[in-house]
Amino acid sequence: MPFTIAIDGPAASGKGTIARALARHFGFAHLDTGLLYRAVGAMGGDPVAAARALVPSDLDRDDLRSAEAGQAASRVAAIPEVRAALIDFQRRFARTEPGAVLDGRDIGTVICPEAELKLYVTANDAVRARRRALELGDDEVRILGELRERDARDAARAVAPMRPAKDALLLDTSEMAIDEAVAHAIASAKEAGA
Ligand code: DC
Repeated sequence: MPFTIAIDGPAASGKGTIARALARHFGFAHLDTGLLYRAVGAMGGDPVAAARALVPSDLDRDDLRSAEAGQAASRVAAIPEVRAALIDFQRRFARTEPGAVLDGRDIGTVICPEAELKLYVTANDAVRARRRALELGDDEVRILGELRERDARDAARAVAPMRPAKDALLLDTSEMAIDEAVAHAIASAKEAGA
């Protein structure tokens, strides 16, 4: 049986970095599920048709990282038929041997509720805005507004809203260096049997 690690949390909380580090450490596959919604948002046209037609190579586009692509992703992610069209791909990925790490907003609650380890990664707004501003070379105040708008939409939607699973471990990275956050996550995964 493959080992599945579900990582959820708001934008720029550090969940992507932690997910990549866990995958590298344990030799697991990694899927950044935000890229699926970013790709659908970037395709334009009917988002439901785009989600149904999505293929893995659509995730390689360079322009998916921008703040605009994040906003478009958050908007299409509120459409139930878009989410439904992406479920099978994510669940199949989660069964990769010997294990898989998926990061997003609803991995522990909807996509992989049976995951062996569920982490919910957070950090305060100011810290998240600073990190993302450095990463994108963009203005911190603008990024802060963008993150807050996106988080509010992602948490308020009717289908698969962003929230921790009941049995998720909470990891607040506000006061942590990334190495420290990764070490915590690796220790939790070992405890869970990875
Ligand atoms: O993780 P990210 O910032 O790349 O995600 C972009 C948007 O996609 C996010 O604002 C909400 C949506 N998303 C989602 O609804 N469910 C997921 N599992 C991952 C992302």
